[in-house]
Amino acid sequence: MADKTRITIIGGGVGGYPAAIRAARMGAEVTLIEKDALGGTCLNWGCIPTKALLQSANVIQTMRESDTFGIKCKGYEVDFGAVMARKNTVVAQLTRGVGALLKAKKVKVIPGTASFVDPKTVQVNETGEKVQGDAILIASGSVPGRIPIEGIDSPDVMDSNQVLAMKTLPKSVVVIGGGVIGVEFAQFLIAMGTEVTIIEMLPGLVPGVDKELAAILQKRLSAAGVKVVTGAAVKGIAHKKTENTVTYSIGDKTETITAEKVFLTVGRKPDFSLLNIEKIGVKHERGAIVVNEYMETNVPGIWAAGDVVGGIMLAHLASAEGECAVRNILGHREAMSYKAIPSCIYTTPEVASVGLTEEKAKERGEIQVGRFPLRGNGKALVLNETEGLVKVISDKKYGEVLGVHIIGPHATDMIAEAVLGMTLEMTAEDLAGAIHPHPTVSEAIMEAAMTITGGAIHMP
Ligand code: NAI
Repeated sequence: MADKTRITIIGGGVGGYPAAIRAARMGAEVTLIEKDALGGTCLNWGCIPTKALLQSANVIQTMRESDTFGIKCKGYEVDFGAVMARKNTVVAQLTRGVGALLKAKKVKVIPGTASFVDPKTVQVNETGEKVQGDAILIASGSVPGRIPIEGIDSPDVMDSNQVLAMKTLPKSVVVIGGGVIGVEFAQFLIAMGTEVTIIEMLPGLVPGVDKELAAILQKRLSAAGVKVVTGAAVKGIAHKKTENTVTYSIGDKTETITAEKVFLTVGRKPDFSLLNIEKIGVKHERGAIVVNEYMETNVPGIWAAGDVVGGIMLAHLASAEGECAVRNILGHREAMSYKAIPSCIYTTPEVASVGLTEEKAKERGEIQVGRFPLRGNGKALVLNETEGLVKVISDKKYGEVLGVHIIGPHATDMIAEAVLGMTLEMTAEDLAGAIHPHPTVSEAIMEAAMTITGGAIHMP
């Protein structure tokens, strides 16, 4: 027992708990300290609950278009309490599962808030218990970001955590920030019957996404009834008893919009505020802990992974970083690769991307772009979801695929093919030549690649 490496992990989210399980599987003695619920943001206030809510929105969507499929549906009623309860059930089942997995791997889980005593010791603030480790992994995650405007502390201004705990459905909402969280909430609320306005600072929604796909998504959200205001600078929020007026400017015009609630979805920021890292000298820059390619901080033996290191804040990346960190702690020498990190938006239609956007790829050199619209795909027509597109971007000289971008049904599942291919440095030729199952929407990926290598079959 004594010669086992002792690893202390701070944070039981998707950065910390998979790392704990990996480390235990590799023979380490692991202690995990979590101040809140196991599963962190992803399981409790992020990925999972929002997707559970969006699934309820999908059910409404299916009922609304049932006529198209020859099914007469005699109306429906939203039971918001039941929608939220179902979301809570999904979350509870998964967090219990994480607890069971950690227990099965004999990870010692301590509830409480960890802070550093010295580079080998953390203490649990609530109990004073001290935990010693040969290595410490910081996976303390992130918190919703805020903006310094008047009225931001109004009781009706809610961050994503508060939105997910709502007891009643608001009649109207202004969503400040048209990024990933903003559009997903907008999609959910509009389906539930809430009036929704998104106010986005930049010229278009979901700024990181390939522009052509982002434009399709924006059009679809508008068609669903979401009012989208872009290029707008929010000036302040005036709170009255049951309503809030958001003032914003577009160019030299000042406008207002009034709603029952205001949702703030303007990004997230790394959170290490409770860890006392200054005491041991862990370096941080622009609000994020600095690590090298092996996920180690400037203090030997202290490692960090997930949202707390900034950059791309996505659950699957946090898990990969956490596992990379423990493999390095346990003697492997493995650099973290950021080459093929997928990102997904669970709106209708779904959006999924990996690699460079067309705009970014062009900045790097000569490229080829293969496009295939879903109206040429049989399965998309079966699903009544033909408004979508696949784009494959390859390097002109060697044909290596540099990016794949999908908007349409099942996009978030289908992107995994592109992730694997890009990890293995596939070319557009490889992708076009791989036999895809028929009928599936995935054939559109193959056909997009074919438009680079010699022309698609199902497009004139
Ligand atoms: P985000 O960075 O995706 O979007 C924030 C948006 O707010 C941007 O479009 C930005 O231009 C806008 N904004 C910033 N300040 C503003 C202001 N003063 N007025 C108006 N607009 C303003 O951040 P978001 O949506 O909060 O998500 C946070 C993190 O969570 C992201 O890193 C995201 O990747 C992750 N996430 C991922 C999901 C997924 O993979 N499906 C789902 C939800 C979140």
